[in-house]
Amino acid sequence: SANTMWGGRFAAGPDAIMEAINASIGYDRRLAPQDIAGSRAHAAMLAATGIITDKDAEAIREGLLTVLSEIETGDFPFSTALEDIHMNVEARLKEIVGEPAGRLHTARSRNDQVAVDFRLWVRDQCDQADEALAALQKALLGQAEAGADWVMPGFTHLQTAQPVTWGHHMLAYVEMFARDRSRFADARARMNTSPLGAAALAGTSFPIDREMTAKALDFDRPMANSLDAVSDRDFALEFLSSASICAMHLSRLAEELVIWSSAQFRFVKMSDKWSTGSSIMPQKRNPDAAELIRAKIGRIFGANVALMTVMKGLPLTYSKDMQEDKEQTFDAADNLMLALAAMTGMVADMSAQVENLKAAASSGFSTATDLADWLVRELGLPFRDAHHVTGSLVAMAEDKGCDLPDLSLADMQSVHAGIREDVFNVLGVENSVASRTSFGGTSPENVRAQVAQWKEVLG
Ligand code: ARG
Repeated sequence: SANTMWGGRFAAGPDAIMEAINASIGYDRRLAPQDIAGSRAHAAMLAATGIITDKDAEAIREGLLTVLSEIETGDFPFSTALEDIHMNVEARLKEIVGEPAGRLHTARSRNDQVAVDFRLWVRDQCDQADEALAALQKALLGQAEAGADWVMPGFTHLQTAQPVTWGHHMLAYVEMFARDRSRFADARARMNTSPLGAAALAGTSFPIDREMTAKALDFDRPMANSLDAVSDRDFALEFLSSASICAMHLSRLAEELVIWSSAQFRFVKMSDKWSTGSSIMPQKRNPDAAELIRAKIGRIFGANVALMTVMKGLPLTYSKDMQEDKEQTFDAADNLMLALAAMTGMVADMSAQVENLKAAASSGFSTATDLADWLVRELGLPFRDAHHVTGSLVAMAEDKGCDLPDLSLADMQSVHAGIREDVFNVLGVENSVASRTSFGGTSPENVRAQVAQWKEVLG
């Protein structure tokens, strides 16, 4: 039989496959709290403007709370025939409160209704992402504080470059996640305008008060153009872009943890809580959580590309294509939150292998730049010449199978006669990092100052 919500002109009901492709209730049911908040605000406004009676508005608003509690307790009879959350809620409201339920949809369409529901949901996810990122930053800060002066190799090209401090490396991620937070905050601020009252696309002839509903739903103001209001999905795209960049950052940290926890590196020991064993190889401790976090970017960026592709070329205003905005956004948000929580736990519980870090930092000629800088500072060599002299000394050490500090003064002087005993002071990794006091540099002193500042910010 025809749909009770829009079936007036239809003699027959839809084909079963039509119903299957058309229905979104399987996933948009999670918009129920937002849908009900939007409807309650709309009903209150309809009464305040005299469009419906106070009595009807009261019945609707009370009835909607009953619907919400039924959904929360799992007692709600979801129906695929009713397509989506909007019609499921309204149909149930009708059963509960009767005739007044039919007045709720005055001066409204599912087009502005879904736009407001989804916007409220995405706005909430921005807040959740912010909270989860702050927790991750705190975990990283804990590591940074503990290891402000632990020396480790810094890499470029994944080749040993210069010694850095563990704390400095942790704080690099604190900075990245701060930018992610500000991206979510920007997106949130821009999306915080209300489409409710745009109705189907053209606005309405009823004397509605869009300021009132915007305010009730904590929006800054109503969206100015009804056509834009029902067809805009930028807010979801901005959320997904921010989520993608954040997931990319997470994947880089995850990759480092995978490498660092390997038997070849042994920079960190992941806690048992975040490791798994192998069913065949008894020695294994696999960093599965880190690997899965590394992989989450796939579906999160996938959702971003998918929605951008869905929206591309869509004429104004609403098209049913836009129903495809939700499922992947939900999936991306769920997986981002899961990845953030897992990363926070892993970081908080991992232990740096301080001796191994230092040993690695001391090998691979990591203080060659310090030697070149010494030649510039102490002997007045141009940097290019100093680079050349140092290169010869590295080659010599490599031949002898030793590291730079193991060369004798005579070895050194055979390459450049002016080199003095005190050169050995700069060849140690502790001295190297201690000397990097330029703004933003890796010295323990800088790291401690940064940690103190971040503690203020993060509370
Ligand atoms: N379930 C729909 C969606 O998610 C709600 C809006 C339907 N609007 C319409 N004109 N058919 O987009």
